[in-house]
Amino acid sequence: MRSQSSRPPRGLLTAPRIEERLADEARFIKTWFDNPILTGAVSPSGRFLARMMARAVDPDGTGPVVELGPGTGPITQALLRRGVAPERLVLVEFDAAFCRLLRKRFPGVQVVQADAYHLRESLEHVLTKPAAAVVSSLPLLTKPDDQRLALLDDAFSLMAPGGSFVQFTYGMNSPIPRHAAPDYEADVSAPVWLNLPPARVWVYRRCGEGTKTELLLTPDLPARDMTGLRVRPDKSGFRPARDHRASLFHRVAARARQRP
Ligand SMILES: C[S@@+](CC[C@H](N)C(=O)[O-])C[C@H]1O[C@@H](n2cnc3c(N)ncnc32)[C@H](O)[C@@H]1O
Repeated sequence: MRSQSSRPPRGLLTAPRIEERLADEARFIKTWFDNPILTGAVSPSGRFLARMMARAVDPDGTGPVVELGPGTGPITQALLRRGVAPERLVLVEFDAAFCRLLRKRFPGVQVVQADAYHLRESLEHVLTKPAAAVVSSLPLLTKPDDQRLALLDDAFSLMAPGGSFVQFTYGMNSPIPRHAAPDYEADVSAPVWLNLPPARVWVYRRCGEGTKTELLLTPDLPARDMTGLRVRPDKSGFRPARDHRASLFHRVAARARQRP
């Protein structure tokens, strides 16, 4: 179990205040106006989506956790709140203003201003051991298939066996097309409806490596939001690991286990 002394300082764990959130929205919209393709969204991810991303990461692991495209840091915040130690986090962000903000907001977290699509070069002198996970909110769909796949290959080359690549998308299908990535398998979360726009989280692993991401199938949403969900056939060829309706069962079973 993690000792109390290795937990992040309290300031890193508190949710941003309303003024801070509004300032983040404004920054984001400005960055989007300056470069819509790079930014890929008009506002930062909401907390439900950020939490869903963070759930795919083991807070008790030891290797670095690399975050790609942290923006104003909602997913960074969720990772810290999940219990990932700040010194494990390495943030790779292209935008200089976002980097300045992240350094100020998350002391103790390493921020690298670099192009995530040159990940190996960017992290060559930064990572001292293989990463445990790569968590990405890069707007992958703005890139051609071969560049997305090269990013995935790069990310796995920096990870220890069993590592995972976590990515959210606003689309219905896997942002990494199956035909281009036969060496990988994937799990997908239920849609996070309480995000604008709604999104899903995909977790990729090398075939036969690592364990399934069961937690992803029990999102932090009221149970009523879980009813009536269907798994849609995924044109990319990656099959969701499990029928989403099962997640309601997992949630109820987990609650029952927690009761005294
Ligand atoms: C959709 S936003 C996500 C921001 C934040 N993680 C969130 O969820 O609100 C994409 C982020 O990726 C960054 N980005 C885009 N292309 C990048 C690249 N090639 N290398 C590093 N960061 C990049 C953008 O500057 C932006 O901060």
